[in-house]
Amino acid sequence: MSAQVPVKRISVTDVAARKSSGEPVVMLTAYTAPMANIFDPHVDVLLVGDSLGMVVYGMDSTLPVTLDMMIAHGAAVVRGSRQAMVVVDLPFGSYQESPAQAFASAARVMAETGAAAVKLEGGVEMAETVAFLVKRGVPVVGHVGLTPQHVNALGGFRSQGRTEAEADKIRADAQAISEAGAFAIVIEGTVEPLAREITNQISAVTIGIGASPACDGQVLVSEDILGIFTEFKPKFVKRYATLADDISDAVQTYAAEVRSRAFPTQEYCFGAKKELPKLS
Ligand code: KIV
Repeated sequence: MSAQVPVKRISVTDVAARKSSGEPVVMLTAYTAPMANIFDPHVDVLLVGDSLGMVVYGMDSTLPVTLDMMIAHGAAVVRGSRQAMVVVDLPFGSYQESPAQAFASAARVMAETGAAAVKLEGGVEMAETVAFLVKRGVPVVGHVGLTPQHVNALGGFRSQGRTEAEADKIRADAQAISEAGAFAIVIEGTVEPLAREITNQISAVTIGIGASPACDGQVLVSEDILGIFTEFKPKFVKRYATLADDISDAVQTYAAEVRSRAFPTQEYCFGAKKELPKLS
């Protein structure tokens, strides 16, 4: 039996220190314990994103995702990992009403999952809530630019910051969330020079997704990079594997072997106990 050596998880202060050290933060989404276990040695932060609504549950957007779903998946990811910091998204409707509502939701997430931090979407209008959470011991990751929970207001999933007005808004949003105490901010689907400029201006660590190589770190959706979610591929997604094809091939072979009775062979069956010869 090999005893597992205890590993210290990457902490909020470790991630915050990357702003000055310059070492990029590697963040990847994870939703289940086995995947978290596979990703854990390679990444700094596992994000239990509400993207799970789309890539795991087949929903059209992240809006129907509930706090209970996030807590169940957050707890699974914490159980499946040892060294990465785990951040859990607060889903739509669980924090926008008031700072007190946000605290109640964040407290459930932290207590019931063991995650180190929560992530929430929004800018200037959420700054008061971020400050409220941070002052009460909840580390917060912000999320500005293309914010999928605002898909209806934004008129779809389209890149942000192309006009001066949009750019001014994203600049102000990132500044406000950083000043409110978020230790990191995801900048999503935002034109490159703007994400670079924000990274240079704010004290929070910036994590880009379709933003800029100049961000302090990068995040992608695991089901996208592994080629499991194939319904659509945003421009910023690089596929590192084509697992949907591999899974389809494996299941096709299994089905053919069951139909032809090639599976199971004796190797996969339990042998009957051999009868001992009777003594006369
Ligand atoms: O929900 C999610 O997976 C996210 C990432 C896309 C940053 O918020």
